[in-house]
Amino acid sequence: MKRSLVVVSNRLPFVISTNENGDPVRKNSAGGLVTALAPLVIKNDGYWVGWAGNDLTENMQIPESDDPTAIAHGIKSSQIIPIYLSKETFDLYYNGVCNGTLWPLMHSLPTLAVFRGDQWSAYVAVNELFSNSTFEAVKKFDNLDEKSNLVWIQDYQLMVMPMMLRNLLDEAHITCKLAFFLHIPFPSWDIFRLNPWANEILLGLLGCDLIAFHTNTYASNFIECCFYILGARVDRKEMIIEYGNKTSVVRALPIGIPYDWFEKNARIAPKPFNFKEKVIFGVDRLDYTKGIIQRVRGYERFLEKYPDCREKVVFFQVAVPSRTDVEDYRNLKDELEREIGRISGRFATAEWTPIKYICNNISQFDLAGYYRDARIGLITPVRDGMNLVAKEYVACQIDDPGVLIISPFTGAGETMNEALLVNPLEQDLIADAIKTAYDMKYYERKLRMNALQTRERLFNLDTWLESFFDAVDMIDNFKKMKS
Ligand code: UDP
Ligand code: G6P
Repeated sequence: MKRSLVVVSNRLPFVISTNENGDPVRKNSAGGLVTALAPLVIKNDGYWVGWAGNDLTENMQIPESDDPTAIAHGIKSSQIIPIYLSKETFDLYYNGVCNGTLWPLMHSLPTLAVFRGDQWSAYVAVNELFSNSTFEAVKKFDNLDEKSNLVWIQDYQLMVMPMMLRNLLDEAHITCKLAFFLHIPFPSWDIFRLNPWANEILLGLLGCDLIAFHTNTYASNFIECCFYILGARVDRKEMIIEYGNKTSVVRALPIGIPYDWFEKNARIAPKPFNFKEKVIFGVDRLDYTKGIIQRVRGYERFLEKYPDCREKVVFFQVAVPSRTDVEDYRNLKDELEREIGRISGRFATAEWTPIKYICNNISQFDLAGYYRDARIGLITPVRDGMNLVAKEYVACQIDDPGVLIISPFTGAGETMNEALLVNPLEQDLIADAIKTAYDMKYYERKLRMNALQTRERLFNLDTWLESFFDAVDMIDNFKKMKS
């Protein structure tokens, strides 16, 4: 079924920069969100509202795509609704609230969160701009009374805009469902309430008909926050929240990956390593939630504790620079590079370097080869909403399978029971998990990996989209049940 649809996210499905003549051009951006949502917008002739970036100004045209291989190639410029932000506003909103306040708080790291009223005002103002532009996009729908009309808002950058948009739509008597998906964790009430603007965020989200999370834990944390902080009426069994005259359905809809794409590309991606040693592999945005420091220290402990394994393994870490205007991210890069240097200095020999480190982005096509050829996938976030890397690693284990080591503090770790689950906060546990993976015999690796692959193949990206639209189409039934 085709439906009128607007997708709203902080970033557009491509990056706009300017060429040597100063003309705007599109650059691909990879990542789960674009892979999942670009085909949807294309299929439904929908719209995409998002931040235009620093290079596009209001007097410039949005460029068309000239790359037929880009996932968002089929999205025409007329389907893009750009949001223009001054550098100053963007800094307060993105570096300030999104990544200085909400990111650490939602990942249950409240001591890293900075709370500043001027930044919060910018966050609200930017959300209002998104709400106004989305309202204009909805007004272009063919039928403003159609029940299947849908706006789908993404992630923590846009948590107060749903109620603003709901009010605009109601005043204009436009029928349109609002759905929200949070791609990061929702913390427990006791953490969330530290946010001075907790009420405003909850009220903002309750403008939606459907609010979805990766896991039941996050969904029930949200329900409890609405209960304790707002005093909303909640039905925990049916996962429904009523507040004032609004009813919202809450669901856990864990995201999956385009499994077949990764499996297929693992068959043809180039060989990335030419080591004789077994490779332990990690790839992450350079983010303190990913537990990269804990990982290298756990690896150090492994080399210390199991000296026979030295010179038989290489730890290969890819870290993609991220949010470099935020101090905690800059400090992390410095600290990581210091630690890698220290550990290399401690254990390296003339023939062997214990850690290889790349501080750059690798294409998903090439990554398929890195995943395939790594004997151990070492994924140790201290907290992560889902973690797609873990799933991609599994999809690429096509021949002699490797072993996935994963932190239980990730959404993925909640279901990947056949992986080796390890608490990344204790170095000895990481060391021992690496040793277990290193020693694991073929039949056990195969048995565990088969089970992981079966689950991820089944609960892939298409399943996620299907379950999302099933939930959207059930909203009216659930609401009826309540009234
Ligand atoms: N990724 C990539 N190139 C890199 C590193 C990561 O394309 O060099 C992709 C990776 O394939 C995955 C995504 O970035 O799809 C990271 O998603 P994840 O959920 O693991 O973490 P996030 O960065 O969203 O917190
Ligand atoms: C996570 C968030 C996304 C975000 C991405 C990259 O996956 O859930 O909303 O887009 O990280 O971060 P960035 O700040 O570069 O957009």
